[in-house]
Amino acid sequence: MSEGAGVQQGSPAIGAAGSAPAAPGAGGTEGSGATVGSARIAAKKAQLRSSPRPKKLEKLGVYSSCKAEGACKCNGWKSQNPPPTPPRTDQQPNTVNLLEPCRSCSHTLGDHVTHLENVSEEEMNRLLGIVLDVEYLYTCVHKEEDADTKQVYFSLFKLLRKCILQMGKPVVEAQESPPFEKPSIEQGVNNFVQYKFSHLPSKERQTIVELAKMFLNQINYWQLETPSQRRQRAPADDAAGYKVNYTRWLCYCNVPQFCDSLPRYEMTQIFGRTLLGSVFTVMRKQLLEQARQEKDTLPPEKRTLILTHFPKFLSMLEEEVYSHSSPIWSEDFLVGSTGEQIPIHTGGPYATKGGQKRKPSDPIHHDETKKLRIVGDIPMELINEVMATITDPTSMLGPETSLLSAHSARDEAARLEERRGVIEFHVIGNSLNQKPNKRILMWLVGLQNVFSHQLPRMPKEYITRLVFDPKHKTLSLIKDGRVIGGICFRMFPSQGFTEIVFCAVTSNEQVKGYGTHLMNHLKEYHIKHDILNFLTYADEYAIGYFKKQGFSKDIKVPKAKYLGYIKDYEGATLMGCELNPSIPYTEFSVIIKKQKEIIKKLIERKQAQIRKVYPGLSCFKEGVRQIPIESIPGIRETGWKPVGKGKELKDPDQLYSTLKTILQHVKSHQNAWPFMEPVKKTEAPGYYQVIRFPMDLKTMSERLKSRYYTTRKLFMADMQRIFTNCREYNPPESQYYKCANLLEKVFYTKIKEAGLIEK
Ligand code: ACO
Repeated sequence: MSEGAGVQQGSPAIGAAGSAPAAPGAGGTEGSGATVGSARIAAKKAQLRSSPRPKKLEKLGVYSSCKAEGACKCNGWKSQNPPPTPPRTDQQPNTVNLLEPCRSCSHTLGDHVTHLENVSEEEMNRLLGIVLDVEYLYTCVHKEEDADTKQVYFSLFKLLRKCILQMGKPVVEAQESPPFEKPSIEQGVNNFVQYKFSHLPSKERQTIVELAKMFLNQINYWQLETPSQRRQRAPADDAAGYKVNYTRWLCYCNVPQFCDSLPRYEMTQIFGRTLLGSVFTVMRKQLLEQARQEKDTLPPEKRTLILTHFPKFLSMLEEEVYSHSSPIWSEDFLVGSTGEQIPIHTGGPYATKGGQKRKPSDPIHHDETKKLRIVGDIPMELINEVMATITDPTSMLGPETSLLSAHSARDEAARLEERRGVIEFHVIGNSLNQKPNKRILMWLVGLQNVFSHQLPRMPKEYITRLVFDPKHKTLSLIKDGRVIGGICFRMFPSQGFTEIVFCAVTSNEQVKGYGTHLMNHLKEYHIKHDILNFLTYADEYAIGYFKKQGFSKDIKVPKAKYLGYIKDYEGATLMGCELNPSIPYTEFSVIIKKQKEIIKKLIERKQAQIRKVYPGLSCFKEGVRQIPIESIPGIRETGWKPVGKGKELKDPDQLYSTLKTILQHVKSHQNAWPFMEPVKKTEAPGYYQVIRFPMDLKTMSERLKSRYYTTRKLFMADMQRIFTNCREYNPPESQYYKCANLLEKVFYTKIKEAGLIEK
């Protein structure tokens, strides 16, 4: 687009987080057409607003139809003496005469503006604002060379002209109105900060928030490439989808920056992951280049932020933007470990534009007052207050230090060592395509040694073959430049799992948490690569370790996916681990620790508030086995509420059919067989002495049929009784006990799906 066409912009200087669009001379966008153009229109508008009314009428008359006779088709008054172009500054102000006839229809200027007779000054000024935007867009249409952009300018030009004729408000007519994707880019970046950095001490977290603000500010002033430029650069991409978003961006974000009669929205608030994904790679490159160019002019306090932290921040964000399983783009993303939401506002764009304060009704304020999402019902202020005591160095709990307590998590020492640079983790492997890297080859030899020593039953040649096999990779743990442990694995991306082949830590470094931290890194590595299942044949002695890392003998991957693919070992046990992409595994223990501390504090506070001590319950001595929790004296005062709150279906037929579906599902489950009928006395001696309130699925079906279940609670209580009875009568290692646990899970999943209890 050429200079002067005006609807052009430059991104603000890199460090200008939270500032208005860069003024000429700020950063790499010196004298851009954007700022000059926008300032020019703003100045013209101010000038017009202060001109005499007849002058205003003349300007509006040009865009107003003739009202002289019903039959006059004239669409705008034209002066007999058009002003010279360019206008001469020495010229006397035109004395406009309402009686001057129109060059085209001969009716007077007054005949064209009769509809404005009783219109307020404010409305006149609004219409004049649109007039100047129309004139500006007219120039844009003529100077623009890109066909797609030209077309949008022309549509907006027509829209604004129509608004002047009809004295209406400009509303871009589109099939969809903003926001176009949820969560928005802003929310996604906010989630990213929560997801990756919520464990950091508050000062470091503040730095990340600064980076996030800076990034969002850059996006809001980013110049998207035209669809044809994009087609040339990335022919394989979704061209049609990009064009739709480009058009929206022009109409709602870009053009309104200059033509302020159009409602303006922030790009980061109305677009989501799709648009961010289509610009991120190019944007990241340009931002880093811009940072390099600006490095000598950056203020010292911003240097480290921009030159050191910003590149890392961008590459971490890039992974989340392009990863299919990143949780930051989930609408259900639960804020941080604490429910705390860091407010990231892009600042500048909200504040002023062309020196004028934005009205609160402007769309730019959309969503500005962010609603804090809180998990549970504890007020945000209280959580923040408690958080502050936890991170306060003077408080008892204080921030996390390098001194480990007796209650430290297993991996805490390893995590701190990694942060201090004492240990490093690298995923390495042999490659047939690349020249061998000496350091990597040395590490691979080191790994082969660790595995050979720690897994003496494995033939050395076999270990060597797999460690050096290009299809296998090894996550290696390096301390003082030497390999002290590792996990060798093979990924099967199309089958959705990874096989863990060898896992070991050298003898004198065992039981220090390295094994756990290694596994956590491996989990995060796989989440990034969209593989969410591990399979391994665990050595008899290592089953305990794998169990502690979340592995179980209950394999979630279908047999057909792995049978014949993974190596089978005699005497070893197949174990699997399903990964949850929402968990930042290497920080998980810190997060849990913090959550526990918060809960402990909250309980302490509650206890301090409630002083009343009730006498103990005596009912159990009298033979009562169970009482409803809500009947315990004082329980409600503690803030306790019944769990499993959910929608109570008022319509009996709807309730009946929902419960019927759930019951059928439970009954047809493979673990339902022990509960299908009442327990037979002959099969379970003494059962009815132990279990006072028996229940089974057949009885429940009968009760359902007879419409006994008038509330969901009755139904849930009966089902729960089946499981509780079973666990009371049978030992934990029994098959019945296990069936009860599994079926209970199935039941709760179903009632959650049906909305009968909160998810
Ligand atoms: N049996 C039971 N529990 C164990 C074992 C074990 N063999 N090894 C570690 N653990 C426990 C630890 O006590 C610790 O528990 P805690 O947190 O409750 O205290 C937890 O597992 C993790 O301990 P870490 O210190 O994180 O693990 P470590 O650095 O010791 O590494 C590993 C564990 C890799 C198993 C190491 O002990 C080792 O190299 N062992 C010999 C080789 C081996 O058996 N490898 C696995 C073979 S199977 C396969 O490779 C697929």
